[in-house]
Amino acid sequence: MNILVTGGAGFIGSNYVRYLLDETDDKVVNLDLLTYAGNLENLAGLEDHPRYRFVKGDIRDAGLVSALLAETRTEAIVHFAAESHVDRSLDAPGAFLDTNTRGTQVLLQCALQHQLGCFVMVSTDEVYGSLPAGEPGFTEETPLAPNSPYAASKAAADLMCRAYRRTFGLDVRITRCTNNYGPYQFPEKLIPLMIANALEDKPLPVYGDGLHVRDWLHVSDHCRAVDLVLRQGVAGEIYNIGGGNEWPNLAIVKRLLAVLGKPESLIRFVPDRPGHDRRYAIVAAKIRRELGWQPRQDFAAGLAHTVQWYCENRSWWETIRSGAYRDEYARLYGPGGRYADG
Ligand code: NAD
Ligand code: TYD
Repeated sequence: MNILVTGGAGFIGSNYVRYLLDETDDKVVNLDLLTYAGNLENLAGLEDHPRYRFVKGDIRDAGLVSALLAETRTEAIVHFAAESHVDRSLDAPGAFLDTNTRGTQVLLQCALQHQLGCFVMVSTDEVYGSLPAGEPGFTEETPLAPNSPYAASKAAADLMCRAYRRTFGLDVRITRCTNNYGPYQFPEKLIPLMIANALEDKPLPVYGDGLHVRDWLHVSDHCRAVDLVLRQGVAGEIYNIGGGNEWPNLAIVKRLLAVLGKPESLIRFVPDRPGHDRRYAIVAAKIRRELGWQPRQDFAAGLAHTVQWYCENRSWWETIRSGAYRDEYARLYGPGGRYADG
């Protein structure tokens, strides 16, 4: 199969590109704009792979996408490209609407024009909003109730996917996964940020009381689930993906410190994120039942391996943290910033 992966230079996309090249015979074209979150180092070693090609470009550029689909005889799109960080969406909601919602619509329109066989929309559990304590988890029938501009832009994209399915008959499948962790995650997200700060003996900023709950899944399990949806999923269906692995943030942070042998005195409680969703958790019964998926990565081992990866690949995140991201970090977490240490 000829597959167009969008956002393949980001965290999950790069793990998926490697998965495709390792596990299948498919030809992979990776379309990525290389925003602050896109990094070709995530794909180091693949440059000359005979079944892989990188194209720097914007999913919002209909002319480029259309020409690419024709030239590469694309049969399926797996769509990861997005603005993905909630905190950034609080400061620049328009960029999220533009990339996540409008960008997805451009891709859908191009897919329709070229009569593509399959479009996999990689969405998120955050479209369901915050899960009350005691409830079992979001199912595919849970109403959409996004709370952050990021989540709203993804929910709007999901609804556009639904419209292209219902109105035009396009084969669109949506996946909604919980929080991912693993190698190549940009060090603005909880787990890599805490590992990097701890390694540099810097404060670990925990929002609010630190008791917000996330359901963590290793990126390799997410990639395998997306791939199953591509090959065995049903057109028009939504598949929730989750590890059944809920942890309060504070427990994660303490666990990382323990693995790294660093003191808990590095923890700093900072003001809460506005609109901060208290809990996410997924019921993944449908993908388990219908596609036979289940997570393979044990959490303790996966987290230890992830810590080890960040220890062994210091130059990867040090380079990122010495560039433009440093200024963004100082703006958010420095004096006068939203998460300034009390
Ligand atoms: P990421 O921020 O690491 O990567 C996003 C990639 O998209 C980057 O390489 C970036 O350069 C690219 N991109 C951004 N705008 C683009 C544009 N206009 N055109 C082309 N490329 C563009 O994100 P991630 O964490 O790998 O997430 C990937 C997808 O998975 C997103 O759609 C996200 O909503 C979804 N998701 C993420 C998680 C998670 O925990 N990280 C969980 C569930 C779903
Ligand atoms: P994040 O990795 O940004 O993912 P999301 O908000 O999409 O779930 O954050 C995970 C959780 O960690 C979330 O509850 C916010 C919290 N958090 C902190 O407490 N401190 C931080 O510095 C960051 C980045 C996140």
